[in-house]
Amino acid sequence: MGSGSADTSEAETARRASETTLDDVDHPLFSRLYSVATPLEWLFAPHRDWLATDLSGRVLDLGAGVGGMFGPVAERAGESLEYHALEPDATMRHAARKEARAVDLPVDIRAGRAEALPYPDACFDVVLSSVVFCTIEDPERALEEIARVLKPGGELRFFEHVRADGWRERGQTLLNPVWKRVGGGCTLDRDTVGLFVSHEAFAVERIDRLEFGVFPAKPFVRGRLRRRTLPS
Ligand SMILES: C[S@@+](CC[C@H](N)C(=O)[O-])C[C@H]1O[C@@H](n2cnc3c(N)ncnc32)[C@H](O)[C@@H]1O
Repeated sequence: MGSGSADTSEAETARRASETTLDDVDHPLFSRLYSVATPLEWLFAPHRDWLATDLSGRVLDLGAGVGGMFGPVAERAGESLEYHALEPDATMRHAARKEARAVDLPVDIRAGRAEALPYPDACFDVVLSSVVFCTIEDPERALEEIARVLKPGGELRFFEHVRADGWRERGQTLLNPVWKRVGGGCTLDRDTVGLFVSHEAFAVERIDRLEFGVFPAKPFVRGRLRRRTLPS
């Protein structure tokens, strides 16, 4: 896989962003359901807290949804934090703006997709991915883009549900078509760990398999990858 090195110009960044139609991820029903699913938030709370701990510098919340990370981040935000959020779905973005105001967190919220990040090279200290790699259409390209926008030594911090083993994996594959329809494009059997550990631009710092979730959205993993400085 490539190193993520790319043309650094603003024009190139704009070209990448315009490659996709920003609002082509559009699941208004799922977005509304997601917005009212707050009673289930307590299940996610410890993992959101883990993601939000010790953040500083410029941070990107990838596929921020309705802003589920904003509260935990606001509780811990220090002076040096500059928080950005990317979300392709207009209904989700609208809810995220309201959430940012509600928790009083300054957030630069943009439309866009992980596969064509509308940011220059090496501009983020941390990229957060919370239950997003299951939904991104082209995860390989998204990881290339994350490698491009992270500074050398920067961190990809994630919490994701991934492919199971044995009969559970077969069950996930069978359920995928229906699940994708009701789950806003969510894919059950993504090998996100395999993707993460095989990319040469990242060193694995930590990956924990969690006893969290309910079949078919199980297991979950969370962890940290470090952006390597690759020889040019
Ligand atoms: C399950 S939600 C998770 C939202 C949020 N990260 C959270 O923790 O609550 C998945 C999110 O990924 C977004 N998404 C879908 N395709 C995407 C893409 N190609 N790039 C970035 N985000 C995407 C969806 O619109 C949705 O908001």
